[in-house]
Amino acid sequence: MKPQDLEKKTAAVASLEHVEDGMRLGLGSGSTSAAMVHALGARVREGLKVECAVPTSAETRAIAESYGIPIVTLDDVERLDLTIDGADEADPNLALIKGGGGALLHEKIVAAASDKFVVIADSSKLVDKLGAFKVPVEVLHFAARPVKTRIEGMGGQVSVRQRGDAPFVTEEGNLIYDCDFGLIDDPAELAELLGRIPGLVEHGLFVDMANVLIIARGEATEVHTR
Ligand code: A5P
Repeated sequence: MKPQDLEKKTAAVASLEHVEDGMRLGLGSGSTSAAMVHALGARVREGLKVECAVPTSAETRAIAESYGIPIVTLDDVERLDLTIDGADEADPNLALIKGGGGALLHEKIVAAASDKFVVIADSSKLVDKLGAFKVPVEVLHFAARPVKTRIEGMGGQVSVRQRGDAPFVTEEGNLIYDCDFGLIDDPAELAELLGRIPGLVEHGLFVDMANVLIIARGEATEVHTR
């Protein structure tokens, strides 16, 4: 296994100490989350009871279902006990950039519906300042041009995410813009400004949301909390 994949697995397994019998879970997306759902599924096969889970993407849903984890939606449960998800970047204050896989909208909704949000990542994801990874934002087709203009007016450089020859389309049918703001001095301020743009459905800055960040270095883990 590649060292980075080993770290993803290490962080994923470490996060399961937050899972208790009978919990309602939110399941994140991406390769680190996939490792977590496989590890969770193995525990379920050994007897751990998961009351239900809300997956944040079709890929995660398929893995969870393969272990018989009961899948529900946010129409079925008022709150979740715990969500575990990956990140593209995390800073020491537990601010995150997410959305590299394009699932940021569902990920943010599920994290916000959870009493506890645990983030898992390999050591490459921990940075002093967010922003080397471009901030993904989900945009309505109808608002594609005005949103681009507003972001450029804020000093951001916009790339329309592609899949093959066509624009990438999210599970909700929207576009993703990957926005380069350079290194971000104040993630909360940028999040606030992005949140005010009509037609920008959601952005990948997750500020004041994570409660625990588990970073794996080799086979060891370091835990950051706030
Ligand atoms: C998916 O949209 C993302 O937010 C992922 O959580 C993030 O891209 C991390 O992915 P990896 O675990 O694959 O690095």
